[in-house]
Amino acid sequence: APERTLVLVKPDGVARGLVGEVISRLEAKGLRLVAAELRTLTRDVAEEHYGEHRERPFFGSLVDFITGGPLLALVVEGPRAVEAFRALAGATDPVTAAPGTIRGDLGLEVQENIVHGSDSPESAAREIGLFFPGLG
Ligand code: CMP
Repeated sequence: APERTLVLVKPDGVARGLVGEVISRLEAKGLRLVAAELRTLTRDVAEEHYGEHRERPFFGSLVDFITGGPLLALVVEGPRAVEAFRALAGATDPVTAAPGTIRGDLGLEVQENIVHGSDSPESAAREIGLFFPGLG
């Protein structure tokens, strides 16, 4: 079965009008959209999603940012979708992310880094369950 991953176009990406650019890149790569929803996260969902970062100094700021406006949540599918999307996204810090990647081409800020992609198939299952509980 093809693998699935959760992709977020974060509030900075939506505000900058980069939704089409992100979807174009992942579709051009061959990943397929399974679910898509524009929504503004509650603090509860944001804190659950980023639970592994709870003790980090940037956690409060991250939750403020990710709940600060609408984001686009996507489930995408394809062979090794988790790894495939992370390669498209590039490194977490857009300044050092390789040119040719979403972050490397389009960003400058480590927090406002345009997209999120699940970091493992286990994280993908957890995150897809959190964002799209109805999805089989
Ligand atoms: P993401 O891949 O969604 O995972 C955690 C997020 O925390 C990351 O992207 C950034 O948006 C944010 N983040 C990671 N490191 C830092 C940092 N040093 N300062 C601020 N935000 C960060």
